[in-house]
Amino acid sequence: MSIRISPSILAADFVNIERDLGRIAAADLVHVDVMDNHFVPNLTFGPQMVDRIQQVSSLPLDVHLMIDEPDRWAPGYAELGAFSVTFHAEATTEPVVLARRLRDIGARAGIALKPGTPVEPYLDLLHEFDQVLVMTVEPGFGGQSFMPETMPKLTLLRDALSRSGGDVWLQVDGGINEDTVSIAAEAGANTFVAGSSVFSSDNPELRISALREAAASVHSHRHASRS
Ligand code: DX5
Ligand code: ZN
Repeated sequence: MSIRISPSILAADFVNIERDLGRIAAADLVHVDVMDNHFVPNLTFGPQMVDRIQQVSSLPLDVHLMIDEPDRWAPGYAELGAFSVTFHAEATTEPVVLARRLRDIGARAGIALKPGTPVEPYLDLLHEFDQVLVMTVEPGFGGQSFMPETMPKLTLLRDALSRSGGDVWLQVDGGINEDTVSIAAEAGANTFVAGSSVFSSDNPELRISALREAAASVHSHRHASRS
């Protein structure tokens, strides 16, 4: 199973984003947190900034929309060329309609779940999404502690995918570091967002490799124990 590391530029220096993008070239994606000060009590930036990041980034953009009214705003991020656009389940009543629209435009469609949001309503709809983001902190801020109580959702998702044979990326976001990455990988995650653990490092490239190796080692054990 492939492992993907998606550093969150929420932890980058906002006046030196292009420089900081250059420090994470070993990553698979770059995670871009859009916050509107309504869905979450924090504000980052909108489509104009994401468009500019897209122009200077050599990595595909993994856009995480922590905003109200994603039905209205999310397609614009797909149109500017984001690789994936993830909206929150709590912010829309029509997640499947929105996911289909994002796919039609050409982006991967992702659905995100806050820590208190159950996953069961989505288990039969997984084929409608390219990725599911299980938030491992309350969305809004970087630097918070990983919430292990969210792990049973990943187990349910991984089991549902094993039964259906679907290839939906299972992503975790919040408090991911060299210790917690293993816990999330064990529960079935394969795509890891990491903000402060990558950007607080003197050597972000090494930190990315360490996260990747820790997750890969768990996956190879999981595989060995099943075969
Ligand atoms: C939080 C954001 C995260 C954040 C993660 O709401 O969605 O992407 O940047 O930061 P860390 O890795 O520091 O918890
Ligand atoms: Zn995020």
